[in-house]
Amino acid sequence: MAISEAYLAELKDRCDLEAVVSRYVNLKKSGRGMAGLCPFHSEKTPSFHVMREEQYFHCFGCGAGGDVITFIMRIENLDYLDAVRLLAEMAGMPMPEERADDGVAALRRRILEINREAARYYHGVLVSEQGRRGLEYFTARGLSAHTITAFGLGYAPDRWDSLLKHMTEAGFTPEELRQAALAETGRNGGWYDKFRNRVMFPIIDVRGGVVGFGGRVLDESKPKYLNSSDTPVFKKSRCLYALNAAKSSNETLILCEGYMDVIAMHQAGFTNAIATLGTALTTDQARLMARYCKQIIVSYDADEAGRIAAQRAIGLLDEAGLGVRVLRIEGGKDPDEFIKTHGADKFRMMLEKCGGHVEFRLTQEKAKYDLSRPEQKVAFLKKAVEILASLSSPLELEVYASRLAHELEISKDSLIMEAAAVKKRGGQNREKARLRKEISSAQGAGDRVNPEKVRHLRAANAEEELIALLYGSPALLRQMDALITPGDFVTVFNRRVYEALRAQITAGGGAELSMLNAQFTPDEIARITGMLVKWKVSGTSAEARDLAGVIKFESALQRNGQAIAEAAAGSAPEDMNNEEFRNMIKVINRAKTEEKNGGGNC
Ligand code: CTP
Ligand code: MN
Repeated sequence: MAISEAYLAELKDRCDLEAVVSRYVNLKKSGRGMAGLCPFHSEKTPSFHVMREEQYFHCFGCGAGGDVITFIMRIENLDYLDAVRLLAEMAGMPMPEERADDGVAALRRRILEINREAARYYHGVLVSEQGRRGLEYFTARGLSAHTITAFGLGYAPDRWDSLLKHMTEAGFTPEELRQAALAETGRNGGWYDKFRNRVMFPIIDVRGGVVGFGGRVLDESKPKYLNSSDTPVFKKSRCLYALNAAKSSNETLILCEGYMDVIAMHQAGFTNAIATLGTALTTDQARLMARYCKQIIVSYDADEAGRIAAQRAIGLLDEAGLGVRVLRIEGGKDPDEFIKTHGADKFRMMLEKCGGHVEFRLTQEKAKYDLSRPEQKVAFLKKAVEILASLSSPLELEVYASRLAHELEISKDSLIMEAAAVKKRGGQNREKARLRKEISSAQGAGDRVNPEKVRHLRAANAEEELIALLYGSPALLRQMDALITPGDFVTVFNRRVYEALRAQITAGGGAELSMLNAQFTPDEIARITGMLVKWKVSGTSAEARDLAGVIKFESALQRNGQAIAEAAAGSAPEDMNNEEFRNMIKVINRAKTEEKNGGGNC
């Protein structure tokens, strides 16, 4: 759905960037705007700036940037329309009529409808005669009728087309079911249900929509679980099971591995349990959690795989700014089994005494050494000091250092001193790594937004400068049109940006970041904002002419690269007109002299 510029302008008027950002970031006055710690990467000194007048934000650390819509898209993990919707809610503005012909939004609505109906169907089957095996399965695993209803659990019959049949009768087409990842076609073109003879776990997002399903076999066959593949409403890596039910219990969430762990925990009264959906924890999921709580208790399976996964999760959660504690399950393979064998009270006791992640790591390390042997003790201490060095709170450092000192009969002060030294070295290494990263990003390595930039630095810089100029001085467009067309742009990304700006201005509006949000991803918007920060956003037609000249030249160089090379080698290309040819030669000669003088333009 296209949202009108007038609507966006009013929305942005009512949702002042600074006021919106302040809900998430502690901003302090700085120069012409406000600054704070960037919510999109972890940092200790503020490099996240909000420019009041221009109404955009930019982080000099990680390069994030954009307007109030981009900000909401990123921080709330929403797509463009949902971000506009959320802001409209904040501002008390009704959304413009959603047009029926808007393909993606309509498809999403349709899939949500399908999922809801399918969930209703599976649940209905479970509690009917046809679903007896499913109900017996859940009952045997200790689930109460209340739990089964609360989680909307269901059963997919042992037939090839029972869902298809029900859904087509309800007015949905097989093709629509495929789009919802609920039906597939075989080699002979016949349709069949994706989930058969499985107990079903509907996956519900924070807004209460059924976005997908997990289905478990009733026996030992494989695969044990089957999950919906990604659809327009479902991305496994961004979803957390039961977050809708757990999010109101704030402060702390308990993260476990499986559906059944979550359900068993809720039933036992731990209503803050959530799980990933059969994939390793992602940054997106860590950020999603950070929106609802301050602390996570990682409660993974007791096996080696669970331990490794926990260690990985700790890092991601820590980066998302969450406090982390780790629950180690002893006397059971996972939380579900533990609660079943030892009861909820024992589990609560474990929860209460579970240590922070530092303790977890120290215990993990300690187990690897034989501390009665001096050289092993030294080796362990080295590791321990590294772990201590990762602590940012001096108080925490003090606590763990004393404990270790006591345990190993050494001096606490020397531990703290060692840790400080490691920290300092680490700081220097991090600084080096940061510089390396900066240099390589300046060279364009890993530039996913504009991968061509590294090869066409001069052109790309001129293009960006011209874009910034046009953004700030849209009145220059007429003159620019006489000088240059989007086709002259060398890098595809910059061409897209220029075209989009051009279209906006031609349509009668000014240049507006918020209009671009619909066509560009947050990363791309960040790059565009970066251009506005880096280059002048107003200028004269003479400047525009110079830049257009550089771009045109570079693009001719691109197109005629072969011919020029030949010209330089002495064999004149036949299909080049004379003037163009003469200019090329001139430029080549100039470039050669510049090269000799060791200078360049970029
Ligand atoms: N999982 C999956 N696909 C599989 C196996 C597991 O998606 N083939 C996911 C499921 O979300 C599952 C989680 O990984 O809940 C944990 O897997 P596992 O520990 O093997 O299962 P449990 O949760 O212990 O399942 P159960 O108790 O039902 O045996
Ligand atoms: Mn289990």
